[in-house]
Amino acid sequence: MTVPVAPDPRIAALSAACAGADPATVVERTLAVYGSECAIAFSGAEDVLLIEYARLTGHPFRVFSLDTGRLHPETYRLFAAVEERFKIRIEYCFPEAAAVERLVRSKGQFSFYRDGHGECCGIRKVEPLRRQLSGLKAWITGQRRDQSPTRAEVAVVQRDPAFTGLNGGVLAKINPLAAASLAEVWAAIRAYELPFNSLHERGFISIGCEPCTRPIQPGQHEREGRWWWEESTKKECGLHAAK
Ligand code: ADX
Ligand code: SF4
Repeated sequence: MTVPVAPDPRIAALSAACAGADPATVVERTLAVYGSECAIAFSGAEDVLLIEYARLTGHPFRVFSLDTGRLHPETYRLFAAVEERFKIRIEYCFPEAAAVERLVRSKGQFSFYRDGHGECCGIRKVEPLRRQLSGLKAWITGQRRDQSPTRAEVAVVQRDPAFTGLNGGVLAKINPLAAASLAEVWAAIRAYELPFNSLHERGFISIGCEPCTRPIQPGQHEREGRWWWEESTKKECGLHAAK
């Protein structure tokens, strides 16, 4: 039985303030409320748009990326281009070295093809994310409802159902692009002339780690190139678990 979670007043207020607002306004209101207790989670793909929205607010803002050690060279180049364009330093979050060593020494570099991505993602993404979030009260993500059946219900403002924040407290999760379509996001990236991951020019839509991402064919859903050897209902790595 799930225990109901009491609503957090600050999250409820932000949620009301963002009702019906466009993504840029959602980012602005979030930064106005949470300031440096909040950070944008940047994957190195089309979520670069969130960084532009943050810049446009004129507020200072923080950006972090989970560097799994298995990203494409093109993604690292985009990180550098983004740092240059926005005059920021991304807060890179690395996995715990001992845990990665234990995994690859015992199971090799590609164990996820045999026994699923859960263990590797747990070490390389989820644990570093947990550590980063433990210093925040809110995080901003690029999740969209049209990305996956697992994201169809994503709210623009929610209490994070899986992670806690500073001092083990309530963590707000803001998804400004929840209602946006992939085409809308790309139209904005072009309009603002933002740097983008060059993999997008080679058939990649959704981009994660190199061994677990491949380009898709016309007509395929954008996440079919992620963990393609697993079922679509399992295509979450733990960053966005419902619980
Ligand atoms: S994933 O869980 O399947 O990898 P996805 O690639 O769809 O996530 O990205 C959704 C959002 O999760 C991104 O817009 C970003 O906010 C966050 N995210 C995903 N991967 C990373 C990463 N490596 N570093 C930081 N944030 C990430
Ligand atoms: Fe490991 Fe693949 Fe998950 Fe990256 S996406 S952390 S390589 S299983």
